[in-house]
Amino acid sequence: MCGIVGYTGPRQAYPVILKGLKRLEYRGYDSAGIALVNSDGLNVYKKKGKVAVLEEEMENLHINSHIGIGHTRWATHGEPSDRNAHPHVSQSGNIAMIHNGIIENYSQIKKELLKKGYTFKSDTDTEVLLNFIDDILQKNECTLEEAVRIALRRIVGAYCILLVHKDDPETIIAARKGSPLVIGIGKGEHFLASDASPIIEYTKEVVYVNDYEIAIVKPDELILKNLGNDKQTPFITKLNMEMAAIEKGGYDHFMLKEIFEQPTTIYDCLRGRLDAEQGTIVMGGIQKYADQIMNAPRIIIIACGTSWHAGLVAEYIIEETCRIPVEVEYASEFRYRNPVVHKGDVIIAISQSGETADTLVAIEKAKEQGAVIVGIVNVVGSSIARASHTGSYTHAGPEIGVASTKAFTAQLAVLTMVALKIGYEKGTLNKERFMYLCKELSEIPAKAEQVLKLDDHIKEIALKYKDAPDFLYLGRGYNFPVALEGALKLKEISYIHAEGYPAAEMKHGPIALVTSELPVVFVATKDAYHEKVVSNMQEIKARKGIVISVITEGDTVSPTLSNDVITIPAADEIVAPMLSVIPLQLLAYHIGVAKGYDVDKPRNLAKSVTVE
Ligand code: F6R
Repeated sequence: MCGIVGYTGPRQAYPVILKGLKRLEYRGYDSAGIALVNSDGLNVYKKKGKVAVLEEEMENLHINSHIGIGHTRWATHGEPSDRNAHPHVSQSGNIAMIHNGIIENYSQIKKELLKKGYTFKSDTDTEVLLNFIDDILQKNECTLEEAVRIALRRIVGAYCILLVHKDDPETIIAARKGSPLVIGIGKGEHFLASDASPIIEYTKEVVYVNDYEIAIVKPDELILKNLGNDKQTPFITKLNMEMAAIEKGGYDHFMLKEIFEQPTTIYDCLRGRLDAEQGTIVMGGIQKYADQIMNAPRIIIIACGTSWHAGLVAEYIIEETCRIPVEVEYASEFRYRNPVVHKGDVIIAISQSGETADTLVAIEKAKEQGAVIVGIVNVVGSSIARASHTGSYTHAGPEIGVASTKAFTAQLAVLTMVALKIGYEKGTLNKERFMYLCKELSEIPAKAEQVLKLDDHIKEIALKYKDAPDFLYLGRGYNFPVALEGALKLKEISYIHAEGYPAAEMKHGPIALVTSELPVVFVATKDAYHEKVVSNMQEIKARKGIVISVITEGDTVSPTLSNDVITIPAADEIVAPMLSVIPLQLLAYHIGVAKGYDVDKPRNLAKSVTVE
């Protein structure tokens, strides 16, 4: 949430920062702003709305500057407006600052500053922290770096901040706690950003800044210090990412590109790990902790949103194959109650971004209580990946569309491999079933390719029902979480109210909603409960509901009960969610596009939820 960019070096800073903001816009698009330093001092431009609005505003300006910071905002404190847009400028006019995160104790500090005569131009917590830093700077006659360090010792909350001073056309001061910061190292230049996407065009050498570190960044110098002023050695990592991964590649939207990438991303996720012929699953991180996982009295899965849905599917798979009790928790609930975690419990944290604040804090809490943390994460080097004891990357590549698609199927692929590996080693999964499931899993990329061929047909269905005000999504067993995910996608992208339910729960209340106007999407692929789902379909049909069903080829009964049918290849129920979710992603996508919405940047949302 909120994207931040910074540059210091020989290039013109404005184009580098503008391009960076465009790449980070998926993190928030309520407003955008840029601060540039040159011999005239600070030049700050900011506008409510998307980066394009700011670009238009700055079109005829020619500012010669080689250092600057830029921000794209997802509003927390204060409505989206020009005045609340970042960068903020301190009351003295000396410092500009951008911030990603939330300062929890800002109101106390604000009261103190108001007493000292400070006034505030915005409603943001950021301006409070900035004036707090400025106040320390003036009172102590210290360097900006020192003022930041002193201020941050009092700050409660999450932040990644970047600051520039009007009299220093070389230095960016940056600091983080809880919100991500990557620094790209070029030849005589440095790039700063919330993730690597604005950086890879220029350099592949990066440093991931750790919590409680301050970076003093000049064109040819990078110094890292902790809050105690001790120097830290920057750990340089090579980025394993290509430009093509962050471009649309001919698709109208990133979301569509990412849906269509799934055969490849699932394949990449399995590649080098699963050998279906030999019946082996090699996962270094899991192997290291295999004994602990196998003997865990309990597994707790922690995640949010789509990743939480992947966790629900994993609950079914792990209980089935490993016979270990599994609980699936919303990270935001887990972190604030007093959960019972025993030494030896295994926590599986699932996150695409690896930066979700609730998930990060929840695993820290579980870690303190002696749990082993296994991270299933997409973004390499992210905070959750680093906070976990062990884990496995999903290798889905950058996911830029705000609605998660390819990350979900990659998470399922990794979680299935973990479950099969542990189940087989534990002996709860016999060789024959293990070999069979390995083969089923290895066939998913090719079958996903076949599902994508149904795109035109799904688009027709989307156009037919795009004006419905409500949708229901129903499924049982492994397909119940898929129904939840289908409903979430529709809500996010098309702003249509949608609910996901276990199909059998309908008769306990929600069936009252069924009318001849209500589309009900059944995720009804062949599994152990198929006949039961067909009965649920009958119940909807009897009440004149509109049935749209996702079914397995060869099913001759469901079509007789359905207004529209999407037929996908047969697969074992354990792996089928990786296929049955794809039509639901496409349905949401086409409805959103037909309604004229910006599906890559749905309203009120942002990717990488780094605030609680
Ligand atoms: C839904 C979506 C969100 C994320 C959730 C968790 O399309 O994108 O619900 O799944 O914010 O994010 P990660 O997986 O990055 O922890």
